[in-house]
Amino acid sequence: MGSYLGISAVLFVISLLGFSANAEVFNVGGSPGSDITQALLKAFTSACQAPTASKVVITKGEFKLGEIEMTGPCKAPVEINLQGTLKADGKAIQGKERWVVFLRINGFKLNGGGIFDGEGNAAWRVNNCHKTFECKKLPISIRFDFVENAEIRDISSIDAKNFHINVLGAKNMTFDNVKVIAPAESPNTDGIHLGRSEGVKILNSKIATGDDCISVGDGMKNLHVENVMCGPGHGISVGSLGRYVHEQDVTGITVVNCTLQGTDNGLRIKTWPSAACATTASGIHFENIILNNVSNPILIDQEYCPWNQCNKQKPSTIKLVDISFKNIRGTSGNKDAVKLLCSKAHPCANVEIGNINLEYKGADGPPTFMCSNVSPKLVGTQNPKACSAGPTPKTAAKGDL
Ligand SMILES: *[C@@H]1O[C@H](CO)[C@@H](O)[C@H](O)[C@H]1NC(C)=O
Ligand SMILES: *[C@@H]1O[C@H](CO)[C@@H](O)[C@H](O)[C@H]1NC(C)=O
Ligand SMILES: *[C@@H]1O[C@H](CO)[C@@H](O)[C@H](O)[C@H]1NC(C)=O
Repeated sequence: MGSYLGISAVLFVISLLGFSANAEVFNVGGSPGSDITQALLKAFTSACQAPTASKVVITKGEFKLGEIEMTGPCKAPVEINLQGTLKADGKAIQGKERWVVFLRINGFKLNGGGIFDGEGNAAWRVNNCHKTFECKKLPISIRFDFVENAEIRDISSIDAKNFHINVLGAKNMTFDNVKVIAPAESPNTDGIHLGRSEGVKILNSKIATGDDCISVGDGMKNLHVENVMCGPGHGISVGSLGRYVHEQDVTGITVVNCTLQGTDNGLRIKTWPSAACATTASGIHFENIILNNVSNPILIDQEYCPWNQCNKQKPSTIKLVDISFKNIRGTSGNKDAVKLLCSKAHPCANVEIGNINLEYKGADGPPTFMCSNVSPKLVGTQNPKACSAGPTPKTAAKGDL
């Protein structure tokens, strides 16, 4: 009697975890090269309506996939097992801003070793969004909107036309062994962009792309990034913050045990001057990071103002509080190895700099470590020397004043 109860309790727990042996399986099917958009939508809809945990399987092979939105809420957890390669339409401009969307799903898994191929090549050549805000929008490859309790594992995204992965409104989501691959010169192809989400982990992943490997937008809370390889790309970036009204605070961002290789920027926090809002970004910690041949390895830039789209005279109204950089080593691609440029109006508060060892071999060396509107707490050793004055300014000749 007791053992019957025990077994059914175990089975119940197993099915709650979504590993039920009798999870319903929905195979998408489709012959190689065919368009599976409708078949996938149908399989997802059936899975989503199933009363117990279910699984959608896309087998090995290459398939075409048009714009698709897979929307919850679902009755039970849903897993998508993608073994094949999904190819987007390769046309340059389609006037669409998204390709694959997962919306409002609570209890979601995406795995299987498969590939989302955004076929971005033609689109990159017409993209001018990196030069102007008035540009044609291009589709983000994979959007997770308001997805909760989710695990994205063993999935690749290649050649997105715009961002590869965008996360908005997520709660408790883990990315593990995700690969992002696009050429260094592909514009706006951020690896993973996150905002307005809470409790996200990015683990054991590899991101090689043309823009930020990971970028963190406003409203992000509790993001943990660990064992990520980034490069080529524009590094790991918090911000830009402060461009729009109604932005929310950022808090609890940790980046540990990561390697950045040949990236244009390393670890960066950027806020616009003349901010449209007055938010706080706090608890941002970078630790145990190797930066090899990285331009601007460590950068806080509160005067971020590309293409002069803002008034640089107005100091940033974003407060940066409780920030640390510890055990950061490697080589800088330029002389300005560390720049902490904080706001005149709101100097950065409680900044800790631990062991830093960044070498620079260029002829214009040695490397520098600049600080403005910040007095960091220094722990351990720093190379270059922290907040050194830099080259002594030439004494002003009499009459210059
Ligand atoms: C987070 O989501 C995972 C599924 O990916 C689940 O197993 C876990 O229980 C969730 N954690 C919390 C605190 O809800
Ligand atoms: C980072 O790596 C070091 C050594 O490889 C290890 O001791 C440490 O626990 C790791 N940190 C985290 C947060 O996993
Ligand atoms: C450093 O990176 C630059 C591009 O940012 C590249 O041209 C150069 O070859 C790299 N140098 C080394 C030593 O890897």
